[in-house]
Amino acid sequence: MITHKFEKIGELDAETTKQSLKEIQNVCEQCKACDLHKTRNHVVFSDGNPTADIMLIGEAPGADEDATGTPFVGRAGKLLNEMLAEAGFSRKEDFYICNTIKCRPPQNRQPEREEKAACEVYLKAQISLVKPKIILLCGATAASSFIDEEFKVTQIRGKWLNIFDGIESMVILHPSYLLRNHSEEQGSPRWFTKRDLENVKKKLEALRQQESPVTQI
Ligand code: URA
Repeated sequence: MITHKFEKIGELDAETTKQSLKEIQNVCEQCKACDLHKTRNHVVFSDGNPTADIMLIGEAPGADEDATGTPFVGRAGKLLNEMLAEAGFSRKEDFYICNTIKCRPPQNRQPEREEKAACEVYLKAQISLVKPKIILLCGATAASSFIDEEFKVTQIRGKWLNIFDGIESMVILHPSYLLRNHSEEQGSPRWFTKRDLENVKKKLEALRQQESPVTQI
């Protein structure tokens, strides 16, 4: 497994981080680096908090996202919201949400290698600027953008991985997959995802605690 190094952009204050992301978004909205620009209605850049501790990277915008310009607002997004809330997260505060590619592939087909390559510059800039404590790679497409070995999502999900230099990362199952698998019984995909998100919550609390330990008097 290759560890991806991200250039540290020093300690930017929240306002500068937001402005820098906005500037990159403006460039991305004019992007014509691959053919997806011909069919898109909106570039879908991000949602959530630009200084969040957790970054969630999905696959690609679907029809609802293309129509609104916001990631994860369709059925998969609604399920994601429910599961994040159930694990005790605020999507708005705790998460910065984006996708591997920013434009919808026609008929929701999987993104092609060239499309991912063309879009990589934006995703890498987002990671460098947001500098999250945790990255969640949501589904096989997001995971395969950073994991160079053969893998099965169902086998690597839930493990803490050393993919990004200095950032804890985990692959989780994609909510679109969970929409096709309704069972919440022990051992089911939804059951595993619930456990994974609970572990993410615990990890986040531990990382925050390390950063500012409470002094015992
Ligand atoms: N699926 C994704 O991977 N991303 C979205 O934004 C919506 C659905």
